[in-house]
Amino acid sequence: MTHSIEIRTLDKGEWAVLRELRLQALTDAPAAFASTATRESGFAESDWHTRMESCSWFVAWEDQHQVGLVAGSAEFGDSPDDRHLLSLWVAPPWRRRGVAHSLVETVAAWAADDAATSLSLWVADNNVPAIALYERLGFQRTGLAQPFPTDSSRQEVRMIRHLGDPPD
Ligand SMILES: CC(C)(COP(=O)(O)OP(=O)(O)OC[C@H]1O[C@@H](n2cnc3c(N)ncnc32)[C@H](O)[C@@H]1OP(=O)(O)O)[C@@H](O)C(=O)NCCC(=O)NCCS
Repeated sequence: MTHSIEIRTLDKGEWAVLRELRLQALTDAPAAFASTATRESGFAESDWHTRMESCSWFVAWEDQHQVGLVAGSAEFGDSPDDRHLLSLWVAPPWRRRGVAHSLVETVAAWAADDAATSLSLWVADNNVPAIALYERLGFQRTGLAQPFPTDSSRQEVRMIRHLGDPPD
């Protein structure tokens, strides 16, 4: 794993950074996300402010480049002890260098600091790299599955990591 990655929390005013990274992610990996670049490129500034408020956003930096994004949130309807990881993306040139590992561990630490006992997520069941990453980092399949929001011919599966059980 590279050691020059820095993870920073986005301040509420940095909505334009979120917009830039999110549109890059949706353009690069449309099959991975439950939204589209077409939809989000039409968002007004107020929509991005709402996005900023609804989650805690974390950006990975390496050598002055913004190389990855992830969010953590408390999802309505979930257990109050659970937090949700979403919108994970790493720019292609920086993959397989531990960036996602650092981003996921940042969200796990954020959730634990918020007194959560678990961190959960949804992932497309054919997203082999992401599932390998999550399993490597201690997430397990819950058995829950549902149609993928932007393509009902595919399924997404729910995974959970119990906090306090860090991976090896
Ligand atoms: C999935 C994704 C976030 C992984 O990012 P990354 O920075 O390359 O991942 P890391 O370097 O931290 O990988 C850590 C471990 O995860 C696993 N892993 C990551 N990418 C993998 C791949 N393509 N194939 C198999 N295992 C993989 C490996 O165990 C890896 O450890 P190793 O490199 O020592 O073998 C990245 O490929 C991506 O952004 N994909 C498109 C968006 C996406 O699918 N997001 C997830 C939505 S749920």
